[in-house]
Amino acid sequence: MDNQFFKNQLIEWYQSQRRDLPWRKTKEPYKIWLSEIILQQTRVIQGLPYYERFVENFPSVFELANAEQEQVMKLWQGLGYYSRAKNLHHTAKKIAFEFDGVFPKSYKELIKLKGIGDYTASAIASICYSEPCAVVDGNVYRVLARVFNIEIPINTSEGISYFKELANSLLYEKDAGTYNQALMDFGATQCKPQSPDCQSCMFSDKCLAKSLQKVNELPRKNGKIKIKKRFFNYLVFIDNKGFTSLNKRFQKDIWQGLYEFPLLESENELSQTEITDRVKKEFDLFSDIYLFNEKSIVHKLSHQHIYTRFWIVEIEDILSNPVDIKEVTSYPVSVLTANFIKEFWF
Ligand code: ADE
Repeated sequence: MDNQFFKNQLIEWYQSQRRDLPWRKTKEPYKIWLSEIILQQTRVIQGLPYYERFVENFPSVFELANAEQEQVMKLWQGLGYYSRAKNLHHTAKKIAFEFDGVFPKSYKELIKLKGIGDYTASAIASICYSEPCAVVDGNVYRVLARVFNIEIPINTSEGISYFKELANSLLYEKDAGTYNQALMDFGATQCKPQSPDCQSCMFSDKCLAKSLQKVNELPRKNGKIKIKKRFFNYLVFIDNKGFTSLNKRFQKDIWQGLYEFPLLESENELSQTEITDRVKKEFDLFSDIYLFNEKSIVHKLSHQHIYTRFWIVEIEDILSNPVDIKEVTSYPVSVLTANFIKEFWF
């Protein structure tokens, strides 16, 4: 297909089919940045309420920069990849306190900021400053792979640079921001991963995947990643004054910055005796322990499955990091822990 035809059709499609989204009413880099960071984590429908809560709580980069990390994490709760929220906060402080609230105005400067990679820098630079940078997200991979029948797997370095180059060669340079958003919207609403609407598609008689009946095979991805199994045993200490214990996760691992009950991680599922022994050894405690959920809760992340059991440990005095049971819900926690708290306390 001719490049000119592709971009013209896309821009025309966008004029009538674009989604009415709050971040499309502005070119403020703060709001575009916020929306793009959230949208890397989730689809538009799920991301909308997060965006609205962030903007309401932090109307500008200064409020975000001045917020407590806990509040930022709490607002991010449920989106996953918590390091993104930490980087967001870190970069907000840099922009507010070092750059007087003024965002860098080019791709080259934006990409230097923590948490801003090629995708986000291209999105901000094109949408806010009309810089001709193509955005390549999952939608863009899918549309280009299908329309142009590209077989190169998208999760290889060859694929990444090929698609980036192709996207750049197709760019509507007069208005790169509109073009990028048009391509993402087209992928999200028309050229969907499952059941794309090929009948009504403006590319239907030019789309190579359609004519070759390969729509459901493209884009290609190389072999599945190996999923690691982890076993989490959470110890929910309860003392007779109504306190429990929460720790903050500091390790370079999942859920960094979030709170959780004291954790014993193991290589496989532990029996009641093994748990009792480890609690005795590691906490110097001997007390009644009972299992809250017989069947492990399996929390699936992209590269790991976490098999979790919560153990209730009744003791006389909380040893460390005491938290009033009534306050537990105000801490930022993983969805896994939030679900447990909801079930256990209410
Ligand atoms: N997905 C991520 N960013 C987007 C945007 N700006 N428009 C449409 N879909 C998106």
